[in-house]
Amino acid sequence: MPKLTLDDIDVRGQRVLIRVDFNVPLDTSEDGSPTVADDTRIRAALPTIRHVLDNKGKVILISHLGRPGGQPNPDLSLAAVADHLGTLLDERVRFSSNTVGDTVEEVIAGMNDGSVILLENTRFDPGEKANDEEFSKALAALADIYVNDAFGAAHRAHASTAGVAKYVDTAAMGRLMESEIEALTRVRDTPDHPMVAILGGAKVSDKLGTIRALSKTADHLLIGGAMSYTFLKALGREVGRSRVEEDRLDTAESLFKEADGRIVLPNDHVVADDLDEDAEASVVEDNIPEDLMGLDIGPATVDTYREALSDAKTIVWNGPMGVFEIEQFAKGTMEIAEAVADATDDGAFSVVGGGDSVSALSRSGFTDRISHVSTGGGAMLTLLEGAELPGIAALSDA
Ligand code: 3PG
Repeated sequence: MPKLTLDDIDVRGQRVLIRVDFNVPLDTSEDGSPTVADDTRIRAALPTIRHVLDNKGKVILISHLGRPGGQPNPDLSLAAVADHLGTLLDERVRFSSNTVGDTVEEVIAGMNDGSVILLENTRFDPGEKANDEEFSKALAALADIYVNDAFGAAHRAHASTAGVAKYVDTAAMGRLMESEIEALTRVRDTPDHPMVAILGGAKVSDKLGTIRALSKTADHLLIGGAMSYTFLKALGREVGRSRVEEDRLDTAESLFKEADGRIVLPNDHVVADDLDEDAEASVVEDNIPEDLMGLDIGPATVDTYREALSDAKTIVWNGPMGVFEIEQFAKGTMEIAEAVADATDDGAFSVVGGGDSVSALSRSGFTDRISHVSTGGGAMLTLLEGAELPGIAALSDA
């Protein structure tokens, strides 16, 4: 069922409570104060915020940051994000150290139309993750209209992403939510073929449903990262000291069999005896000696994956191919980023998501050559798997 969008509502003079995903990495500046280390998610929310400001609504922003466990934690305050947003918008962004309650309601009542306030981390309240009714109602009391633009948190059934929608008359999607759903459902439901999916990262267990779903629609499912060693071990290869999920070997073997040749695994590896920038790295084919661990896909695997990507019409990528944070284990991920960018230049529709892949992509310098860079990690995987996203399901039908 299609959901309400910003085009269906009039925000003029209204208190618009916008759930954004400002769960961004923070850094410490020279004077010791926290700063935003990567503002991709903040920039991605700007079209929705600007739409409401330009149309003279009051913008009330809510988000979580990190996992404070239901209690205040100054290290996870959104105050630094308010400053950063102010710079991006070139507007004053007020900050409230309370998330709900009378004081916040009074401050909002005094706001001019076309002004912005960011409220403190929703996860400082235990009611957020519990999707508690009282906390949902307290959030709803701040708003005439609720807009969910937090695609990255749409797989969470929390008070600010789902519960609150029950207690407002109008609950709509923001622009980012719309564009994420459009790009990802296109890949999931109507991909042009050949379709190539690339999945990496540490664990098979995080991506089971997605692997199963993509191995039905994709022509090739290229596997990298530590999860490949679980597959390889399950198929009887020697993987040395590589990271393996021992309790997932049977699952990996049956996923591989079900995929009937569409799952492609690395056939050479960059290995070392330690996960360290000074460790001595080398390339081995097939089996990994018992004293070594695989830390990146090898050059022959890169060639095989490049070949598969060269005539792709649809590409979806989540999860790095190796430990790209360390220079000597980054090559596989960087080469795949380039191959995806090249295929996109040749007409493929490409989607890249997941925090690590997006930061690897940004390091490669190819971000602008990708069709859609998703702000979601878990949310992207959940959507691709075909499961319902509570943050979308809760919104008003169009
Ligand atoms: C994310 O970073 O994937 C989202 O913000 C969700 O965060 P969470 O995994 O802590 O719920």
